[in-house]
Amino acid sequence: MTNDGDARPGESNGGVGDGGVGDGSAAVPAAHQGPRGEILLESRDLVAGYLPEVNILNGCNVHVRDGELVGIIGPNGAGKSTLIKAMFGIVPVRDGQVMLRGTEITGVPTYKLVGRGVGYVPQNNNVFPSLTIEENLQMGLYLRPGEYQERYQEVTELFPVLHERRRQRGGSLSGGERQVVAMGRALMTDPQVLLLDEPSAGLSPMMQDTVFEAVQRINAAGVSVLMVEQNAHRCLQLSDRAYVLDQGKDAYTGTGRELMDDPKVIELDLGTLARA
Ligand SMILES: Nc1ncnc2c1ncn2[C@@H]1O[C@H](COP(=O)(O)OP(=O)(O)O)[C@@H](O)[C@H]1O
Ligand SMILES: [Mg+2]
Repeated sequence: MTNDGDARPGESNGGVGDGGVGDGSAAVPAAHQGPRGEILLESRDLVAGYLPEVNILNGCNVHVRDGELVGIIGPNGAGKSTLIKAMFGIVPVRDGQVMLRGTEITGVPTYKLVGRGVGYVPQNNNVFPSLTIEENLQMGLYLRPGEYQERYQEVTELFPVLHERRRQRGGSLSGGERQVVAMGRALMTDPQVLLLDEPSAGLSPMMQDTVFEAVQRINAAGVSVLMVEQNAHRCLQLSDRAYVLDQGKDAYTGTGRELMDDPKVIELDLGTLARA
C-alpha cells in the first residue's frame, strides 16, 4: 500500500468528524492516474430490472481501469444504484455481461465476488448500529477470520480514526463517520475495486468533504473506485472519468471537466451540477 504523501491539513486525528478541509472547493489532489492499465471491471450492454418485463437498465456500458476513480451521475431514477447492484450480483442481469479482468462474472454470487476482489458499500444501512467500529470491521471479514489482524492493520493505517474510536458503537456516529466505517468495512476484504452508492447523500457539506477525502485516500492507496453520486459537481471534480446515466443507459462519458462543461450534460436535471 502506498500511503505516502497524502497526509492533509485537518487530518491529524484521522480525518473523520473534524470536517476535513472545510470549504468544499479545496479538494485534495487525488492520485489521478488517468486512463491507464487494463480494464478491471466492466458492464457490457447490461439489461436488468426488478419487475417482470420492466427493464431499468437498457444496455448499459461502463468500465473502470486499474487505478481509476470513475463517477456515475444522472437524474434520480436513472438506474445508477441498479447498475452497481447488477454488477455486484444483487439485482439479476437479464442480458449483457459483467466482466472482471476479462472474465465473465455475470450471475456470480456476491460472496464469491467479494472473494475475487469486488467490494460494495450500499447507500443505506451500511453500518451495524449496535456493534462497535471494531466489530463492524470484523463483520467485513467474517468469512476469512485468519486474515483479520493483517487487514485491520492496513485499514486502520489508512483511517487511524477507526482504530482510535474502535470501541464506539456504529449508532453513535454521525452520518459522515458512518460512511467511513462502511468503507473501512468494505476494505477489510482487500478489494481491487470498490463500488460506492452515493456516499455523500444526506450529509452536510463539511461531512461530504470528509467522505470525498476518504474516497480519494482509498483510491490513492491503489483501490479502483466506481462511485455513484448525487453531488454531480463534486463527483466530476474528483473523478478521472465519469458517466452520465439517463434512462438506464450510459448517455455520456468523458473526463470530469469535459462533462462539467458539456451543454448536453448541463441540460439534464443533475441537481447539484449547476454552478452558481
Ligand atoms: N426494489 C425495486 N423494485 C422495483 N423497482 C425498483 C426497485 N428499486 C428501484 N426500482 C426502480 O428502478 C428505477 C431506477 O432506480 P435506481 O437504480 O434506484 O435509480 P437511481 O439510483 O439512479 O436514482 C426507479 O424507477 C425505481 O423506482
Ligand atoms: Mg440510487
